[in-house]
Formats: sequence, C-alpha cells, structure tokens
Amino acid sequence: MVFSRRSFMAGATALGLAPKLAFANAAEQLIASESSHQIAPEAYPATSVWCFNDSIPGSLIKVKQGQKIEREFVNRLPQDSSVHWHGIRLNNAMDGVPGVTQDVVKPGGSFDYHFTAPDAGTYWYHSHNRSLEQVERGLYGPIIVEEHELPDVDRDEVIVLDDWLFTEQAQIHGDFNAMHSLSHGGRLGNYLTAMTLAREPLTVKQNERIRLRFINVATDKIFSIGLHGFEGKVVALDGMPLVEPIPLDHLVLGPAQRADVIADVTTEDGGLATIVSHERSSAIVLAEVTVSGKASRAKRDEMKALPLNHVESPGDLMKAKRAPLLMEGGAMGRLRAGIYKGEELSIRDLVRNGQVWTFNGVANITDEPLAELNLGEDLVIPITNQTAFPHAMHLHGHHFQEVLADGSLGPFRDTLLVNRNETREIAFKATNPGSWLFHCHMLSHQKAGMKTFVRVS
Ligand code: C2O
Ligand code: CU
Repeated sequence: MVFSRRSFMAGATALGLAPKLAFANAAEQLIASESSHQIAPEAYPATSVWCFNDSIPGSLIKVKQGQKIEREFVNRLPQDSSVHWHGIRLNNAMDGVPGVTQDVVKPGGSFDYHFTAPDAGTYWYHSHNRSLEQVERGLYGPIIVEEHELPDVDRDEVIVLDDWLFTEQAQIHGDFNAMHSLSHGGRLGNYLTAMTLAREPLTVKQNERIRLRFINVATDKIFSIGLHGFEGKVVALDGMPLVEPIPLDHLVLGPAQRADVIADVTTEDGGLATIVSHERSSAIVLAEVTVSGKASRAKRDEMKALPLNHVESPGDLMKAKRAPLLMEGGAMGRLRAGIYKGEELSIRDLVRNGQVWTFNGVANITDEPLAELNLGEDLVIPITNQTAFPHAMHLHGHHFQEVLADGSLGPFRDTLLVNRNETREIAFKATNPGSWLFHCHMLSHQKAGMKTFVRVS
C-alpha cells in the first residue's frame, strides 16, 4: 500500500512538481459514499467501506499556508454526516460538529465548507457524526498545508496509520456498541495498515532525504512506530513545527495525533527499510520500502527545524483561568454514578444509556461548557486521569501547550495522551471565538461519555 516513484511523480502530490493550478480549484467536491476497496491481502475479498471521493484514505487536500480550503461536502451515505478539519484553527461555523457548529448533513444533502488554513503542517479531515462508526468505516483523509518556503527534502510522503477490526471475510465488524470495548481501551483492530496515497509499493534511494507525515486515524489505537533504515528527526507534532526537532527513536502516536519526520535513508542499495508497529510482545511490519539506487548527494547538510507557525502562547499562567478536568469511569474504574442529560444515574443506568465515562461527574456533552472565556483570555486545564486507561484529549479550534514540571511550556499540540493515574496540565490562549469541543479522541470513549466543550466569546 505504498507507492512507486512513477505514480508518485505522476500524481499531484509531488513536491514542487505540481503546477500552481492544481491548488486553485474552487468548488471541488468531497463526496462521502459507500464503496469497496482491497484493504486486506489479495487472498481476501475487497472490504466494503464508506469513504471520501471513493478513496481510502480520502483524497489529499493540499494548499499553501494562508490559502483557502473550499469543498462542497456531498453526503451520499445512508447516515447523517459532517466533516471536521482536525487541527486547523478555522472559523467556528466550519468546524463540522453537529449540534454545536452546524446541523447534520442528511443523506442526499450537502454543505459548503470554506476556511483559511493559517498554519503550515500535516492535518486531516474526518467525519464528526457517529464518529466511531464513520471514521472506522473509512471516512478520513489527509490535509497538507505547505510552508511558504519548502524544506530541503527529496520527497514528501503521507503515511496514514489505521487499524481495522475485520471479520474473517475482511469486512468491517459491524458492532459499534460493544460495551466491552467502549469501557476498555476502545475498538482495537486485528489488521494494521500504513497507507500512502497510491497503491504501488514505495521505492527509495539510499541517502535520499524524505519527509514522512504520519497521521494516526485509528479510532482508538495508540501506535508505537519504529523506523528501520531511516535516520532523522521528528520536526513537527500535530502539524506544528518543533522549536527543537527531537530524535526519532520511538514515535508514539495516539488517535488523531500526527508527526512529521524528516529522515535520510540509511539502508544500502538493494536492501529494505521498514516501518514497524511495536505491539505488546512483537513488532508488526507495516511497510517494507525497497531501497534501489543511491541519491547523488551522499552527505546531506544538517537537518534544520521547520519555520514556526504564528501561534500565540498563553501569558502569565498565575493570572490564567483554571478549569480542572477529572476523568472517571470505564472498566476497573471506581465510578458509582454520573450525571447524564441532567439526571444523576447509577452506573448501571449509565451503562444502559451507553455511557461509561465522565468528565467532572458528567457523561457526554451538555449545554454547560467546561469553561467560558473571553477572547484573549488564558485557560489552564489540569487533566486528572482517574481511570485505568490512557486518553487522547483533543481540543478543537486551538493548539494548546503542556505546562511541564518546571513550569515551562511544551510544544503546541491539538491532542495529548494522558496515561492512567496521571495529571497533566495544558494551557492555551483563547484566540478563536466559538464553542470548541474538548473530547477524548479515542472515539469509543467519546461516544461513551468523554466529551465537553469550552466557549470563547
Ligand atoms: Cu478529530 Cu472532535 O475531532
Ligand atoms: Cu479516552
């Protein structure tokens, strides 16, 4: 599922090769429909999926930093849907959250999305209605927002990580309400894929410098990625360039997280470079990359950091508003009761309503925001995970920073993994007016209660 040089050169994705016109298409459509694709090995039947523009992953959206993204979303699914543009600091009405920023788009209906992409980097789009089911069925796609000045790399590849829960016939398992997975680590698959944007295998050259844009679109799985035959650095997380690129020993990506890696191929001509997923007791090879030939420039210059995006950090945290978030519930949790739709329910009655997790004692979203902020105000959220599972907390419309033990601020992120029994503090400046979801991006957990929002006005 990785692609060849030839198809790469022919596609619209080649860095610097695509004519400018390719970006200027105004009212392009993004059509969600049922389809069928060969995802499992050839010995298995094709898998029935739901996807964007008949492709898994959905078609690449690529613009220059500061340009507009405009898509007419057309819903040809048998269910209501919507599109969320994950990680993009866009205008609230375009955020794609049914019941919060727009109405659902009915089957046969459409919705015009149009917004500016202010930050360069790797983002993605996905359904935000019945997300556990719709994202699992394949409704996601990559977004590249290009830097004004492109980094010096020989090629640029998107790698979409997913796990699929397949039946023996390689069909997507249709039970999205299984309480066991909702209350544990979520819906975890039995087939892993690292997909690029074309079907043929990827071939690289020794010493080639490659930008790899990893996107974890899995509903619940935390990927732990190992790269063999590549030597490089992580240069961006969740789209945002790092001030100091970090070494590439172990790349842990929670659901929805992204990492941009710039690496040189160290495998010799004729060998294989591999991308593996570290599982509990083994490593699964996600991709084998054939190394054929040598790049002309054997020794490359020192890898440089990417130009930073202009995101404002919070100011004096002593003066910031604070809104603690306590996560409770799930299997092996201590939750006895919680508020659901304004009523205090016992854990049994919560479960009866498909709810098993709470934020500050409340399951699922209500009219009450976690915090009300004025534009320009700073918010600190100490997140305490009193459950037996990790959670991937995602904030819409803003990137936040973690407040580290020494009081300094970590890299800008839009999704943070919070492990069991941990308390982690995040902070951000409210720079974008509207109601912004703050939820666990383990979509099973989101469905079963882990969802709130902040309001900026
Ligand atoms: Cu990527 Cu609310 O989601
Ligand atoms: Cu979670």
